[in-house]
Amino acid sequence: MDFQTRIVHAGVDRDPFTGASSVPLYQASTYSQIDPEHPGKYNYARSGNPTRDALEKALAELEGGATGLAFASGMAATSSVLLLFQPGDHLLVGMDVYGGTFRILDTLFSRWGLRTTFVDTADPAAVESAIEPATRAIFIETPSNPLLRITDLSAVAAIARRHSLLAIADGTFATPYLQRPLEFGFDVVIHSATKFLNGHSDVLAGAAVAREAELGERLRFIQNAFGAVLGVQDSWLLLRGLKTLGARLEAEQRTAFWLAERFAGLPGIAVVHYPLLSGHPGREIHERQASGGGAVLSFELVDTGMTMEFLRHLRLPLLSVSLGGVESIMSHPATMSHASMPRAERERRGIGEGLVRMSVGLESGEDLLADIRRALEKAKKNTQGRE
Ligand SMILES: Cc1ncc(COP(=O)(O)O)c(C=O)c1O
Repeated sequence: MDFQTRIVHAGVDRDPFTGASSVPLYQASTYSQIDPEHPGKYNYARSGNPTRDALEKALAELEGGATGLAFASGMAATSSVLLLFQPGDHLLVGMDVYGGTFRILDTLFSRWGLRTTFVDTADPAAVESAIEPATRAIFIETPSNPLLRITDLSAVAAIARRHSLLAIADGTFATPYLQRPLEFGFDVVIHSATKFLNGHSDVLAGAAVAREAELGERLRFIQNAFGAVLGVQDSWLLLRGLKTLGARLEAEQRTAFWLAERFAGLPGIAVVHYPLLSGHPGREIHERQASGGGAVLSFELVDTGMTMEFLRHLRLPLLSVSLGGVESIMSHPATMSHASMPRAERERRGIGEGLVRMSVGLESGEDLLADIRRALEKAKKNTQGRE
């Protein structure tokens, strides 16, 4: 079946008891045992809940994995996956992963003896040469946050296979609608489901999907033991948001590409990062492994000094740390999503003060462009006035 059809019917298609069009909210923390010696399928909500189960089944189906797991946030999913490793293990992680992923590795997991080397995963040779005897996994993001750098999924999965490493991808930006890393040989895909999967900026959630059942069971054990599970109400909301993923992304990425092409010609904007722009270094690889450019782009202002004025004068997009909502969201990575990264680390990765990230929502492209143009003009005028 077409992916769009699968999105609408994934998981538990309708309530098996009543035929209701949506899975009920099983708002229960515990389940009565029918027999003292034989607990049923469900015993306690941390270990399982039918509403969360329906969502987890849908996530596994859409990513093409054996096991889907829903967590309280994207960071809860990432942290739980990282609990697969032990003190003394070493990880190779993409240079420009989400700032929060950098933070837990750099400040928390490092304290427990998990070592990390940050590498440019867009360069498979650099990845392979950074492998050490203690390396256990490669963790990548493609397109990456916030520079939209592209990593070749097949090449990295092949390196991981050759060296018996786990290949883990954060698939937040592309979602399974556009790209499915497990099909390229990755072992685990992680999501901040807060973003496009839910799509309405009203739920904080995370997901992890394992390709193989054995790894899935190890992650399920961690999910239950560590306990960062997604609540029932949020599972239901996420199931609802998920149904329109394809429709939302189609419209949003159409506008994103349209805007990216126009931004490239706007006075005041120096560079635009979007995977489908001609001249994007990862374009060919991205087109091979994803069915669209996605709805996130970033751009660099010519005059970094006018960044705050530009953001101050925007009317339509939210100025916010998130992305993937039906409303466009503008953010300033250096002071927002990547503020947890020390300045030197940010600059080494090319995340400067003039970089702005935009998640394109469902507004009209014309309206967004007019708003951005106006904010650029105002910022220019005000900044010049100060000189
Ligand atoms: C690519 C990526 N991964 C992970 C996360 C963390 O997700 P959450 O905020 O849901 O914990 C984010 C959040 O912005 C993200 O952008």
